[in-house]
Amino acid sequence: MKIIVLGSAAGGGFPQWNCNCRNCAGVRSGTVAATARTQSSIAVSANGADWVLVNASPDILAQIRATPALQPARSPRDTGIAAVMLMDAQIDHVTGLLMLREGRQLPLYCTAPVWDDLNASLPLAPVLSHYCGVKWHPLETIGDGPGMRPVQVPGIDGIRFTPLALSSKAPPYSPHRDRPAVGDNIGLLIEDIASGRSVFYAPGLGAIEPQVDYAMQAADCVLVDGTFWSAGEMIEHGFSTKSAADMGHLPQAGQRGMIAVLDSLDAHGKAPRKVLIHINNTNPILDEQSPQRAMLAHHGIEVAFDGMEINL
Ligand code: MLT
Ligand code: MN
Ligand code: ZN
Repeated sequence: MKIIVLGSAAGGGFPQWNCNCRNCAGVRSGTVAATARTQSSIAVSANGADWVLVNASPDILAQIRATPALQPARSPRDTGIAAVMLMDAQIDHVTGLLMLREGRQLPLYCTAPVWDDLNASLPLAPVLSHYCGVKWHPLETIGDGPGMRPVQVPGIDGIRFTPLALSSKAPPYSPHRDRPAVGDNIGLLIEDIASGRSVFYAPGLGAIEPQVDYAMQAADCVLVDGTFWSAGEMIEHGFSTKSAADMGHLPQAGQRGMIAVLDSLDAHGKAPRKVLIHINNTNPILDEQSPQRAMLAHHGIEVAFDGMEINL
């Protein structure tokens, strides 16, 4: 199984178009040791030719251009993207669907609450019915316990995708932003059936519930929410009144932060490879010379970058 990180930044990307924080200004001027990143998405394949796109970022066209493996060119009009799977209905994860409208009907795997949002509040599905159209394949989870309902995607032989309900947040535009529904946000346990090797992917993760703990301990690689370093990051910058928790993200720092969670896997699980993804442009870990980045390295935690490949 091969995973390519198409986009490793959170909503807005890095640098964000209107942002002059230390990171964004520094990467533009070359005074901060950091690399630009597009918005959150990965591609998963068993054979290197047929891929599941997990999240459709607004940067999808640039991501496809940067990733020759997604264009196998088997016929005059062709794509390596066999299906799209969504982790939530956030703008940074769904609006790329509009950019795929010239293709064949898109198989779309998402939960019922996400499908509802994409038919009502942000009606991409009805809009796309006038172009390629999407065919909904429901992803089911249960709210507590392991909640295992694995699916296989036709054309992607050898990989099993298990959606897990997560505690995070529906998008700001969703009618259930403040009334969480099971399935607003999911994570995926992605397994190579032949080798048994797996990755747990959760770009938006607000709390470590039992099913998340289970998946993290089962996985050979965890590719998880790296949005914010600290709980009050956006407030301290004066960019928002919302904390990381208000936005459904677990920050890295703190006694119960993501670093501590990832550390605990070594004691109880199989010491997986640990990678942070969906990094917000304000996060000091983007600066490769920052003390925060050094601390991650000390804990054996990597920071995803666009084009990163994970082979399992
Ligand atoms: C989030 O996950 O909180 C988003 O990146 C926010 C956004 O898309 O603006
Ligand atoms: Mn996001
Ligand atoms: Zn910024």
